[in-house]
Amino acid sequence: MPANIVVGTQWGDEGKGKIIDIISSRADVVVRSQGGNNAGHTVVNNGEVYKLHLIPSGILYKDTLCLIGAGVVLDPKDFIGELDSLEARGISTANLKVDPRAHVVMPWHIELDGLSEAFRGGKDIGTTKRGIGPTYMDKYERCGIRVYDLVHPEVLAEKIQSTGKLKNKIITDVYGGKAFDLDAVTKEYTEYGKRLLPYVDDVSVLTFDAAKAGKTIMFEGAQATLLDIDFGTYPYVTSSHPLSAGVCVGTGVGPKVITNIIGVAKAYTTRVGKGPFPTELDDEIGEQIRNVGGEFGTTTGRPRRTGWFDAVIVCHSVRVNGLDSLAINKLDTLANLDKLKICVAYKKPDGTVTENFPPTLEELEGCTPVYEEFDGFTEDISKCASFDELPANCKKYIERLEELVGCKVSMVGIGPDRSQILER
Ligand code: GDP
Ligand code: IMO
Ligand code: MG
Repeated sequence: MPANIVVGTQWGDEGKGKIIDIISSRADVVVRSQGGNNAGHTVVNNGEVYKLHLIPSGILYKDTLCLIGAGVVLDPKDFIGELDSLEARGISTANLKVDPRAHVVMPWHIELDGLSEAFRGGKDIGTTKRGIGPTYMDKYERCGIRVYDLVHPEVLAEKIQSTGKLKNKIITDVYGGKAFDLDAVTKEYTEYGKRLLPYVDDVSVLTFDAAKAGKTIMFEGAQATLLDIDFGTYPYVTSSHPLSAGVCVGTGVGPKVITNIIGVAKAYTTRVGKGPFPTELDDEIGEQIRNVGGEFGTTTGRPRRTGWFDAVIVCHSVRVNGLDSLAINKLDTLANLDKLKICVAYKKPDGTVTENFPPTLEELEGCTPVYEEFDGFTEDISKCASFDELPANCKKYIERLEELVGCKVSMVGIGPDRSQILER
């Protein structure tokens, strides 16, 4: 009964969607445990492109049970939009369940995300403006609205009145924004609740029962390690725990259920949003990687910042997630670069060198990457059928990367399609 976790090891968009989709073909159950529609996971099958934000990527397989756990924050409007667009493409959502404990993204959360970002001025986080941070704030302040409330109209109406009044006061008095009409919000969200009702079920119980029955489970990570609220580049992070450990609290299962943890990385690094990025390439090489790799956000369309592979970061991810293996995507994107570089350590302002990712921005500031250089490759590798078929320089790059991060590379991505993966 393997229970695999797939997590991002960098700043997101590592191609988790593709890896999850590939492994989901062998899974009975796929579970999302944190984050919300700030995620954007792309799956490509025979040229058909699917972009999923809230619904687990396993939905593309007819018989796979897809679960959204208690740790997720759910925007019902977007969720319904995603349901409709999948159904319109002939994909059934009958096997989808949402935990009643999951918190609901309300319109004031989205509004407050935008207002607080604007208030920060030049020091904004660069959020996706999907209301993620404000929804988690309410969850931890213990005044959130949950999926259970959403599907019980009397509870919902009462909670919208009590919470909404306070939110309106903050929006108008603190930020000078416009108050929400709470009756209109109640009407709109009551309708969403009706649509969601058939999907509500206890995901903790469903997952536990599946594990007991020996089913194969996949936990689909969203965001990534460097965006973790504690172990990422705080405050330039998201408001949840994308780490492997976050899966247990976000689903409601004990850690002994987990049998395998897979980290996903790109063969280089990208970041969307603000915050430190030691190996960032602000030059024509960075531009080439962005254009060749199509590095534009799946959720917001923003251009992604690009840079060399950072082994310090991925080492940190190997440790904090307890990774068993790594999938390295987008090796194909690095073709036609004369030289490739991997950051192997950081040089601190006092001249000392560290291989450990610094815990705070203050300690990271002034660190410069120490690089190892490799010869590039010019071959089109997108049709290679095995790892052995890759050009010698590609193999050298992956084998050294593996050595540097101290974790086995079990898959190498050579293109966006489901089939473009080399398993080792
Ligand atoms: P996620 O958020 O981690 O699921 O990743 P995204 O879907 O946001 O971004 C990854 C992008 O890279 C998507 O457009 C994928 O289709 C694409 N992709 C994934 N793996 C590969 C690969 O090995 N090669 C290429 N060229 N593209 C890939
Ligand atoms: P997937 O699952 C990349 C980033 C945002 C911003 C920061 C905080 O597709 O890898 P938030 O809206 O969460 O409060 O924004 O986190 N971010 C992501 N970056 N991929 C994601 O998800 C992301 N989800 C959030 O850009 O920097
Ligand atoms: Mg993404």
